[in-house]
Amino acid sequence: MNVTVVGQGVGAVSADAVVIGVYADDKKLREPAARLDHASGGALADVLQAEKFQGKVGSVTHLHTNGTLPSRRVVVVGLGRRGDTTAETLRRAAAAGLRRARDLGARHVAIEVLGDRLPARQRAQAIVEGSILGTYTFDRYKREKSDKQVETLQVAEPDGRHRREAADGARRGEIFAQATWFARDLVNAPANDVHPTHLAKVAQDIARAGGVRVEILERAECKKLGMGMFLGVAAGSEQPPKFIHLAYVPSGRRRKKVAVIGKGITFDSGGLDLKSAEGMLRMKDDMSGAAAVLGIMRALPALKPAVEVHGLIAATENMPSGAAIRPGDVLRAMNGTTVEIGNTDAEGRLTLGDAICYASQKLDADEIVDMATLTGACVVALGPLVSGLFSNNQALADRLLTAAETAGERVWQLPLVDEYRENLKSDVADMNNVGPRGGGAITAGLFLKEFAGERAWAHFDIAGPAFVEKDMPLSPKGGTGCAVRTILTYLTDAGK
Ligand code: BES
Ligand code: MN
Ligand code: ZN
Repeated sequence: MNVTVVGQGVGAVSADAVVIGVYADDKKLREPAARLDHASGGALADVLQAEKFQGKVGSVTHLHTNGTLPSRRVVVVGLGRRGDTTAETLRRAAAAGLRRARDLGARHVAIEVLGDRLPARQRAQAIVEGSILGTYTFDRYKREKSDKQVETLQVAEPDGRHRREAADGARRGEIFAQATWFARDLVNAPANDVHPTHLAKVAQDIARAGGVRVEILERAECKKLGMGMFLGVAAGSEQPPKFIHLAYVPSGRRRKKVAVIGKGITFDSGGLDLKSAEGMLRMKDDMSGAAAVLGIMRALPALKPAVEVHGLIAATENMPSGAAIRPGDVLRAMNGTTVEIGNTDAEGRLTLGDAICYASQKLDADEIVDMATLTGACVVALGPLVSGLFSNNQALADRLLTAAETAGERVWQLPLVDEYRENLKSDVADMNNVGPRGGGAITAGLFLKEFAGERAWAHFDIAGPAFVEKDMPLSPKGGTGCAVRTILTYLTDAGK
C-alpha cells in the first residue's frame, strides 16, 4: 500500500472510496461528514439513519455517491465517544474502514485524519497502522489469490499547520506496519519452508538492503563458543542450526547498546518428550520471536534510532531422533552453567539462555530484551490477547510497558518470585530446565534470568498473542507480528 499525505479534504480528492469517521455522541454531522452529506444531497445522513448507525468503534457502513462527489464511495466508520478516543480507537476504526473499502473493490482510497483530540502526528501514525495492519492477508500458498487490494492510500490533512507532523506520523505508521507484516509472513509460512537456513537467508537479505550488518554462526562456531544448550536442542534435527546476529549501529553518538533476542524454534515437536497431535499443530509459530526480531532489524535503518541494536536468533528445530537429547541428559551453557534436561519440550529457554550469554559476554549489551513463545502456562495465565513481561530491572520494565501502551499491544508484568527458584534445582547439575506445572511461565522466566546475571534484562512471553485462532480488529487469524511495534516504539523513543 502506497501512502501519501495530501493537503485537501476528503471531499475534494478523487478516489474509489473515501473513509470518514463519525462519533457516537454527536447529535448532528460534523465536518467532513456534514460537507459530504450536503454534496450528496443528504444521502449520507439518510444511510446513517436507515442503518441506525451508532458510531461504535469498529462499526462501518457505506454509500455510493452516484457522481455527486469526486469519489465513488463514502465509507463511514464509528469512532466511539468523543472523549474516549485513543490511538487504538483510530487504528481499529481505520482498519474496519479500509477492509470495507477493499471488499467493495476499491484500489485507491483516501482517509480523513480521524480523531480530533490527539496530536496530528499520533493520529496519522495510528490510522496508517490500522489501515495497513487491518488489510493483511496471506495467500502465498493458494492458487486463488484475491484480486481485491488497496494500492494507494491518501491521508487527507487539510490543516496546513499539521501537514508536516501528519507526514512524519504517516511514515512512521507505514514502517511499523510493514515490519509487522514482514513478521506475520514468516510466522504464517510453514516450517518446511521456514527452517533455520531460511531465517539466516532472510537476515542476509536484510543486511544486503543496507543499514545493518549480519553474521551467521554455524554449528562449529557455536560449539567453539560453548553454546551447549542451543546445540543440544539442535541435535535431533536434520536441519542445521544457525545463530543469527544482525547489528544496527547509529551514525551519530549512541545512547546505549540493546540486544533484542527472538526465540527461533522453526518447529517445536517437543523432542523425545513428544507433544500430542493437538499440541503440535500450531508449532510452526514457535519462531514468532525470531520473526519479530527480523521485522524490527529490517525497519531500523529507516527509523534511525540513536541506540545500537543487536538482533539475535538461535535458530533450530526441536525434533525427536536417535541423535536427539534425552530426558536426564546434562548440557553445558555458554557461561559454564550445567543444566539437566527434565523435559525436552522446554527447549526455548535452552536456546534463549545461550543467546542471552552471547549478548552479555560477547556484545557487552547494556540491555537485553527477549521475545519468546515460551510457555503454555503464560497462555493459561493471561489468555490469547496478553503477553507476559518479566524483568530483573523495574525501570526497564516500566519503559517497556509504556512503549507497549503507546503501540496498543497488551502486556502484563508477572513477578519473578524468588522462592520459586528452588523449583529449578537438580540433583546432578546446577539447574533443571523445568519445574512444577503451577507458575510455569514464572519458572521459565527465572531460568532465563540466571543467564542475564546483573545485566538489565526483560523477557516477553508472547505464546498467547503471537498467533490468533480467529480474526482480530488489527489482524486476521494466524501470525500477528506481536511485539514488533512495542519494541520499535521502545527503541525509537529511547533515542529521543
Ligand atoms: N513452544 C512451547 C510453548 C507454547 C505452548 C507456545 C503453546 C504456544 C502455545 C514451549 O516450547 C513448550 O513446549 N513449553 C512447555 C514447557 C513445559 C514442558 C515445562 C509447555 O508450555 O508446555
Ligand atoms: Mn517446547
Ligand atoms: Zn517451544
